[in-house]
Amino acid sequence: MTFVIGENCIKCKYTDCVEVCPVDCFYEGPNFLVIHPDECIDCALCEPECPANAIFSEDEVPDDQQEYIELNAELSEVWPNITEKKDPLPDAEQWDGVKGKLEHLER
Ligand code: SF4
Ligand code: F3S
Repeated sequence: MTFVIGENCIKCKYTDCVEVCPVDCFYEGPNFLVIHPDECIDCALCEPECPANAIFSEDEVPDDQQEYIELNAELSEVWPNITEKKDPLPDAEQWDGVKGKLEHLER
């Protein structure tokens, strides 16, 4: 089992999640974070920390976001590790809750 970051992180990237992870398994792209599925120990600490409610247990990922399971696995192999909180993206509040953000994902 792992936790998975879903679409509402895109263009928000609040990064509160990285502060609580005991195994530092978050990886950062230009406008999205992912969790490395082989490193996550399923502690659930990060889920309530996300202001955008973008983090799910793997078995609770919404049906319309199933592709994010593979996306987290793929991108966590290529993006750099992030362990400290930073400022959210400038328009995070405006993008919080917007649907269909996958087209805005920058790699
Ligand atoms: Fe890290 Fe725990 Fe969240 Fe997994 S569930 S990403 S180990 S804080
Ligand atoms: Fe993204 Fe939420 Fe973390 S918006 S960066 S998953 S705190």
